[in-house]
Amino acid sequence: MKYFTRMKIRRVYEWSGRARSFNRRLKTHDYDSFAISVEGLSKIIINTGQHILIEGYDEDNPYVAKVTRLYGDENGQQMKAVVQWFMRVSELPVNKLKLLGREPHPQEIFYYECRNCDNEVNVESILRPVKVKHLDSNDPFPDSSDKDTLYVKLSWDSKVFGVVNSTVMESPAEPAPASSPPSCLKPSLPISPSCSQSAATPRGPSRRVLPTPDHAIMQKASLGEVDHHFLTVSLLFLQISPGTPKTPRHATPSIPIRSLQTQQPANILEEARARLHVSSVPESLPCREQEFQDIYSFVESKIIDNTGGCMYISGVPGTGKTATVHEVIRCLQHAADMDEIPSFHFIEINGMKMTDPHQAYVQILQKLTGQKATPDHAAVLLEKRFSNLAPRKETIVMLVDELDLLWTRKQNVMYNLFDWPTRRHARLVVLTIANTMDLPERIMINRVASRLGLTRMSFQPYSFKQLQEIIMSRLNKLKAFEEDALQLVSRKVAALSGDARRCLDICRRATEICEHSAADPSSTGLVGMSHVMEALNEMFSSAYITAIRCASTQEQLFLRAAIAEFRRLGLEEATFQQVFVQHQALCRIEGLRPIGVSEGLAVCQRLGACRLLLLEPSHLGVLQHIRLNVSQDDIFYALKAD
Ligand SMILES: Nc1ncnc2c1ncn2[C@@H]1O[C@H](COP(=O)(O)OP(=O)(O)O)[C@@H](O)[C@H]1O
Ligand SMILES: [Mg+2]
Repeated sequence: MKYFTRMKIRRVYEWSGRARSFNRRLKTHDYDSFAISVEGLSKIIINTGQHILIEGYDEDNPYVAKVTRLYGDENGQQMKAVVQWFMRVSELPVNKLKLLGREPHPQEIFYYECRNCDNEVNVESILRPVKVKHLDSNDPFPDSSDKDTLYVKLSWDSKVFGVVNSTVMESPAEPAPASSPPSCLKPSLPISPSCSQSAATPRGPSRRVLPTPDHAIMQKASLGEVDHHFLTVSLLFLQISPGTPKTPRHATPSIPIRSLQTQQPANILEEARARLHVSSVPESLPCREQEFQDIYSFVESKIIDNTGGCMYISGVPGTGKTATVHEVIRCLQHAADMDEIPSFHFIEINGMKMTDPHQAYVQILQKLTGQKATPDHAAVLLEKRFSNLAPRKETIVMLVDELDLLWTRKQNVMYNLFDWPTRRHARLVVLTIANTMDLPERIMINRVASRLGLTRMSFQPYSFKQLQEIIMSRLNKLKAFEEDALQLVSRKVAALSGDARRCLDICRRATEICEHSAADPSSTGLVGMSHVMEALNEMFSSAYITAIRCASTQEQLFLRAAIAEFRRLGLEEATFQQVFVQHQALCRIEGLRPIGVSEGLAVCQRLGACRLLLLEPSHLGVLQHIRLNVSQDDIFYALKAD
């Protein structure tokens, strides 16, 4: 490793020189410098105004900052530094780097203008000084023979890059007023960030999580009393953010932000759980870069060209469709805020959140105009609006999630969703998300399908490797799982469905099981194979699973037939007749005696009675519609494990 960390080397921190001033109210002294002594090496003196490296969770890339103030008590029990942060290239959101308009230099850092940043660290988290040079934004970067120097040209405020003038960089830190409470000591900047906190009451709504381990722990650590494992653990949980959902575009992936109002996670497992929660927005979406790019380009080009269009996005549940589209919209919205693209009006509806498909009209109208109307009236108004010749001001981007559920006998709702964007003056971009592949074909049968020119995109189920990567990236270096345990979950889920949501749920449950299991003295405290195995069993052993396992061979076969037919149709629904044809084919494949229609209907009714199937009234006979009341996963799982 290039840098020393306390985990390997014992270091001693002490004030160097006399206190410069004393704050009576807080009983703290201000200092100009302190010394770090590393065993066997000479002392390093660090002064205010100097650039330093601060321990983070990435050993190879410690945080970069400049000391603006040093204070604490005389005996060195409490040693604090107020700093100005800089961001490394690796700390910036990948999708923001394009705002630079050029390749970043590997040794480039950015003056971080951060609102509500926690700018106070424990002195013990400071590793060593570092050379930082200011360059004018037009200056070339020097030849990189000197790998140790970092260069600053620009500032970064979580949204845009700005120019840093050299006075900001070179001016020595302002001394803190001795008698007033310490204030935020940021040098003034062209775009001056609000300094909403003072060190005396360091309670910003959301603060940069510091690479500052708890003072007590560090105090002990520097005395060599704490074992390394404990230290590692403490460091880890202090540097991560509990499940505050974060938007990838507005947060910086490697510097988690946490709200101090939320309790600190009690331990690693709790933290892991927060990060794995399906409702927490991941910082990045690994394995979906291409899909992201394609959807982004599609919508962006429509917005720029003032045209409309429709994209049909399909894939089985848990393949990241919703997450990817939401991320695309966030990025586009940001681009619009930055005036990089024309602004647009985004609305979203979700088939799952509607009691009736015709509610879609009501909701769309309401979200577009604030008007309330009955479904029929709303349909008329929308039709008018989208065929109106007057060109609209803004492009409307409409996300229709869970489109499958907007299926109606007459298919009008779906048809309109595909049709409106083709109207010349609609300036409407519709993104539809569905679980089934060939819904459009099924709707278009008697209509002019080719006119609609649908752009399609399908999300493939995640492979074992991808699921593993997704979990790991969510955990973001938090070591909560044994390696083989993570592998097991990923393999199991990939074999069944490739559903990331399920994978996350099982991992979360496993952390709970691990936490509540009596600590085996030999255990590492991490989530292991046994915990994961128990979680897997639990997840797949609901009453329904038991019911499937206990069902007769013909009943089990009928369930498989239903799935086969749904897949063929690309729908979640079929008639008894259709399923029955599959059932007979399966009987032949399995070498079973094919059953007759009435026996088949009886099998179907029994499955309905135990709620594995949802059935239309039985007087419809072979024409009754059938739906599954359990996930296809559950059925595969129940039948495979046999
Ligand atoms: N590539 C990914 N990286 C990180 N998390 C993911 C990824 N894909 C899916 N997820 C997570 O899995 C869960 C399900 O994803 P979602 O987008 O809702 O799936 P879908 O809409 O396809 O059913 C969400 O919590 C989402 O954040
Ligand atoms: Mg979804």
